[in-house]
Amino acid sequence: MKIIEVRDLRKEYRIPEKEPGLAGTVRSLVRPRYRTKVALASVGFDIETGESVGYLGSNGAGKSTTIKILTGVMSATGGFVRVNGFEPHRDRKRHVRELGAVFGHRTGLWWDLPVIDSFRALSSMYEIPEAAYRTNLEVFTELLELNDFLSVPVRQLSLGQRMRADLAGALLHNPRLVFLDEPTAGLDLNSKAAVRQFVRHLNQQHGTTVFLTSHDMADIEGICDRLIILDRGSKILDDGIDRVKHRLTTSRHLIVTVPDTVDVNEVVRTVHDGTAASCTVLGRQQISCEFDRASVSVPHLVGVIMRQHEIVDFELREPDLESIVQRIFQQRPTMP
Ligand SMILES: Nc1ncnc2c1ncn2[C@@H]1O[C@H](COP(=O)(O)OP(=O)(O)OP(=O)(O)O)[C@@H](O)[C@H]1O
Ligand SMILES: [Mg+2]
Repeated sequence: MKIIEVRDLRKEYRIPEKEPGLAGTVRSLVRPRYRTKVALASVGFDIETGESVGYLGSNGAGKSTTIKILTGVMSATGGFVRVNGFEPHRDRKRHVRELGAVFGHRTGLWWDLPVIDSFRALSSMYEIPEAAYRTNLEVFTELLELNDFLSVPVRQLSLGQRMRADLAGALLHNPRLVFLDEPTAGLDLNSKAAVRQFVRHLNQQHGTTVFLTSHDMADIEGICDRLIILDRGSKILDDGIDRVKHRLTTSRHLIVTVPDTVDVNEVVRTVHDGTAASCTVLGRQQISCEFDRASVSVPHLVGVIMRQHEIVDFELREPDLESIVQRIFQQRPTMP
């Protein structure tokens, strides 16, 4: 079932233009002039219930604008949007009760209240049944490691602690759908890992639909199955992550480990003589063979090596998303 439908979404911001100098300031006050900034040109996509979608793009591409429209925070200039059966901006009161939203740069908790009191307040706002509240609190505290600071006021939390508390708060009412706008920005590796694991858990165990923006490809790879890429207000790619990887790169790496008794340089020579792969020594017992999957197959490559040498292990490495996305952007025409 489609949980998000977006067609021809357009958003224009009206930006006041000020002429320089005092006279200019006065003139802008008397007769303000505006210029129009098109943040979203004509964006469309459908998202099915239970999907986990990464929404990518450079700074200013229009990601946060899209999330604000989908969560009902602001209205669109044109197009059609339906989320969870609602028109987000028009039905925003009912809409927000059924979704979770986390904006990395802003907290949804109360600054002066201890975390646990914020959670309590959210629980009564959303009328969460007591048993569900207790279960979620227990599970979230464990997964997001909240125990040490549940009784600390939000304003005293570090960024990573606040972010984890925010996530828990936004999801206590078991929303079917969650929007996360840069939930890991500025977090250390541990906090990032906790956030990723938590969101993945909700998606996989509870079927929560996830719509996530992040500049960290490891978040996208760790959480999402599908990728939508936006470039200056237009969608330029929309596909499963595995398919993107498969389609856009033909290069693969095979890491081969050999026993102590085998000379890795001999193995490199064997590969170069018998295949079109290119090989480098990684260590005393390990080599990396880079090959084009269109012209060399893994069984062939492994077979060539094994006919002449004993091997302990081999591992096929997929290309990483970071370099693929970088390539997608490099191939785009530059700004006029
Ligand atoms: N309130 C606003 N008024 C005017 N222009 C705005 C406003 N909010 C965003 N914009 C402009 O709209 C465009 C899209 O901004 P948006 O915040 O959606 O980008 P983003 O993809 O979230 O970028 P980032 O990765 O930096 O968070 C930008 O050019 C931005 O300057
Ligand atoms: Mg943004």
